[in-house]
Amino acid sequence: MKEPKLTSAVGIPVPDNQNSLTAGERGPTLMQDHFLFNKLAHFNRERIPERIVHAKAAGAFGTFTVTHDITKYTKAKIFSEIGKKTDMVGRFSTVAGEKGSADTVRDVRGFALKFYTEEGNWDMVGNNTPVFFVRDAIKFPDFIHTQKRDPQTNAKNDTMQWDFWSQVPEALHQVTILFSDRGIPKGIPFMNGYGSHTYSFINARNERFWVKFHFKTNQGIECFMQDEADKIAGVDPDYHTSELFHMIKDGKFPSWTFYVQIMPETDAENYRWNPFDLTKVWPHGDYPLIEVGQLELNRNPENYFAEIEQAAFSPGNVVPGISFSPCKMLQARIISYSDAHRYRLGANYESLPVNRPKCPVHNYERDGAMRFDGNGGSSVNYEPNSFGGPKADSAFAEPPLKISGDADRYDQKRGVADDYIQPGNLFRLMTPEQQQRLIKNICGSLKKVPKEIQQKIVDHFSRADKAYGGGLAKELGL
Ligand code: NDP
Ligand code: HEM
Repeated sequence: MKEPKLTSAVGIPVPDNQNSLTAGERGPTLMQDHFLFNKLAHFNRERIPERIVHAKAAGAFGTFTVTHDITKYTKAKIFSEIGKKTDMVGRFSTVAGEKGSADTVRDVRGFALKFYTEEGNWDMVGNNTPVFFVRDAIKFPDFIHTQKRDPQTNAKNDTMQWDFWSQVPEALHQVTILFSDRGIPKGIPFMNGYGSHTYSFINARNERFWVKFHFKTNQGIECFMQDEADKIAGVDPDYHTSELFHMIKDGKFPSWTFYVQIMPETDAENYRWNPFDLTKVWPHGDYPLIEVGQLELNRNPENYFAEIEQAAFSPGNVVPGISFSPCKMLQARIISYSDAHRYRLGANYESLPVNRPKCPVHNYERDGAMRFDGNGGSSVNYEPNSFGGPKADSAFAEPPLKISGDADRYDQKRGVADDYIQPGNLFRLMTPEQQQRLIKNICGSLKKVPKEIQQKIVDHFSRADKAYGGGLAKELGL
């Protein structure tokens, strides 16, 4: 094979990539060795900020195929006909650890999907759990700090998380999932994905429905027990990342069945749960799963940094036919992600190949750092104009979103019965062996924290189910 000629980044042929230019055999190195200087300078700039959360991940490209008709609920083009295929990219992450952290830790997993639809990119930025630890975004940075490093020791500190959770009982539902068997998936293909928040669907008649998204693994749920996971974390910290890559390389394409739960718009007013509370699910008995399609991952990235690290997913990226809900957490996420992307990737991150939509883009945004596309060429850059610039189309206007109430900081009413029922329901649907493992997993961490905090946690879980709290108290010797 004839190898290509090595050049600098501006195309100048490199005469020698093994020896720098020196005065005499023993040196010193000459400043005029611009090949050397540029090589070192570019190397110094190889790192960009890692994501503040979800830094460690694997990713792959794939296809979404519609198998069932849901056009009565949504006009989103991705669902317009049975058999329709849409390209996508997915990124599957742990939450708390840094970019070099181990895969097989007990943590929630991110499940971020970008669908390149003909009316723009739809990002479904979910987790492998249907609920979350907090229901108000103002508590998100505090919660995340408890998952990161102690400010003094720079080590993980179990007291931080249990201290926090002991004062925010709305977290119990997610804590129960985290410490259950599902807290350590055996691999990315062996976990479900959930949109978690309530979103809306809008149909061709401009009617709104509330919707929850569920991606159920076709490989079946498989999990690691704590001791197996701990061993693998030491031996092969990139276990999940490599497994996904090799499965796809070997043609064993992982897939998920996509379902939705649909709630008619007016049901929200009288439903027994606040349907926009991210710490609650909609029980399947109330709103059954409706099958929609198949998601398959079938292509590895050629270059991880370019195609996965630089991918930017935002819950704010919804397309006609899909929209938001009043969920307080979702509302904050809509603005938070693109802010993070501008910091992490720069103002023109949407033009990077992995983020660029596969449909035409016409707007009046211009310039900015690293503008590497045509920057709109000579076309008109203001609106209104008389020169045929792009125009908004009111046909895409959403139906009005009904909201009411006075602007205020409403008390969350923490610790009311509401916060305990669903964690209790989850505990009660586990087998006795699963319940015992859940209790052991919690105590593995909880035993390291002060007794007063242990007692508060036991009291909370006792309110969810007497056997749950009782089991913990026994294991902790309280
Ligand atoms: P269902 O019996 O209809 O559904 C139970 C759900 O629990 C299934 O989706 C099952 O997932 C899931 N599940 C089983 N074990 C675990 C676990 N260790 N961690 C997380 N999920 C688990 O009951 P309901 O819809 O009435 O819900 C009862 C409880 O189930 C809820 O309080 C909630 O904690 C949990 N759940 C509910 C979901 C929902 O959307 N309704 C979604 C996920 C969990 P699978 O079918 O894949 O095995
Ligand atoms: C990543 C903020 C809650 C799922 C991120 C990032 C930020 C963020 C800033 C990094 C983005 C980047 O640099 O590209 C928040 C805030 C939240 C919140 C403020 C609460 C208000 C949630 C919830 C979920 C979630 C509830 C799931 C349902 C994810 C995922 C990623 C992520 C999957 C990684 C996306 C990727 O792979 O690039 N979040 N988050 N987050 N978040 Fe959240």
